[in-house]
Amino acid sequence: MKSTFKVRGGVPLEGRVKVAGAKNAITKMLAASMLSDKPCFFSNVPDISDVEVTVKVCEEVGMQVDWDREKGRMRVITKEIKNTHIPLCFSGANRIPILMMGALLGRTREPIIVPTVGGCNIGPRPIDFHVMALESLGAVVEHRTIKKESAYFAYSPDGLRGSIIDLPYPSVMATENAILAGCRAKGKTVIRNAAVEPEIIDLILFLQKLGVVIYVDVARTIYVQETQFFHEVEHEVLTDRIEAASFGMAAIGTKGRVFVEGATQADMITFLNKLRKINGGFSVKKGGIEFFYQGGLKGGLHLETDVHPGFLTDWQQPFVVLLTQAHGYSVVHETVYENRLGYAHTLKEMGADVELFTQCLGGRPCRFSSRNYEHSLIIKGPTQFCPGKINIPDLRAGFAYVMAALFAPGVTTVSGWHYLNRGYEHLIEKLQQLGSSIEWMEEPDSAEGEEVLEDRSSIEAKCSLSCP
Ligand code: EPU
Repeated sequence: MKSTFKVRGGVPLEGRVKVAGAKNAITKMLAASMLSDKPCFFSNVPDISDVEVTVKVCEEVGMQVDWDREKGRMRVITKEIKNTHIPLCFSGANRIPILMMGALLGRTREPIIVPTVGGCNIGPRPIDFHVMALESLGAVVEHRTIKKESAYFAYSPDGLRGSIIDLPYPSVMATENAILAGCRAKGKTVIRNAAVEPEIIDLILFLQKLGVVIYVDVARTIYVQETQFFHEVEHEVLTDRIEAASFGMAAIGTKGRVFVEGATQADMITFLNKLRKINGGFSVKKGGIEFFYQGGLKGGLHLETDVHPGFLTDWQQPFVVLLTQAHGYSVVHETVYENRLGYAHTLKEMGADVELFTQCLGGRPCRFSSRNYEHSLIIKGPTQFCPGKINIPDLRAGFAYVMAALFAPGVTTVSGWHYLNRGYEHLIEKLQQLGSSIEWMEEPDSAEGEEVLEDRSSIEAKCSLSCP
């Protein structure tokens, strides 16, 4: 698998790019489709490795999948649950296996065995809220260690029954797990302090088509009614607001102009407001948003990440890179993850003037105040990035580094493509199409029998063929 590419920076991005379907929506819908034994047809399915891994996990359970990757269409059906033991080799692959608990608990009395979940390395990412939500619906969730590998065992000895779930924090996937379990739990399930990200609303739309009575009430409360009869569904996956914003920021930062087809204003309001505050140009048009450089970017911004409708934590890293090009000081406070600013050390090495702080800067104290995590930063701009060699540590920091490379005059070598491939469809080709000078580097042949270092997700995906 290719893993390294080089970018010659300083070239403005120009043209038009089409945003793919949202990774954080389709992967959840694939899990949700397993609530039913009817076929589901998806369009706008992104051709990314996180979908690949999710498909493999679902196939382990019994899903049949036809995926036309070129057309972005997928037909899935899970006529019966063949296996409720997600192989340990999926441990660390992505975070979707954890949703198998919510999706399958009401469909089988077999224990659902799920290896400890992965995803990007951006903090400890516990699943205590998931466990609490499922237990309040009558499930038993135990953490056990088998042959030094740990896994969750979830079962519902007396079946699931609806209840009121009070989430301590509006976690995206804990909300999704509670929704999925609620679809087959007796009576009504009420999820209070739920997350209401656009991807969750898209999941709700999908579930309503599937036959579920489900709605979002005031104050982020979600109601789900027990469902016994399911329908065939056709669903177009919403477009990826993270990819859309990423191209927008890259266009502005390179002093270019890009029409991002499929960017949806309604899902990007907070982002667009922040962009406007720093003098980033955008124009909402039919079918997308055009992003353009309209003169010097202004700093002086305070940006705080939050749950929806706040500023999405996945926009934070590329926005920080954009702020390095703005005149003056800006302050960023990451309140969703305690450990999502580590990438800034590499930006410093590349020439950015960035300082990290453990204090909550600029806003209300968050959950991480006095906990000694570097979760705030101050940026002074503008600075010029120096080209060099960089290693991507996770998906969103990965795009931030690509932006830094696009801004740096000269050639930067970037390795760790597999992280980007988890969530950005055909990124290299799309950037080439926008005029950037970016190309793959030759990989040295690995000696026979020697494992090439690659991301866990691709290793897990391959190993699913050999796992029991
Ligand atoms: N949390 C707990 N306990 C739990 C669950 C969450 O303490 O049981 C904490 C987390 O540690 C974190 C916070 O709650 O501090 C929010 O985490 P959340 O559960 O909302 O995150 P997630 O559902 O695991 C999804 C996306 C992330 C995105 C976040 C926030 C997927 C597959 N992942 O993660 O996306 O950053 O919501 O919006 O949907 C990405 O796409 O690159 C990505 C990391």
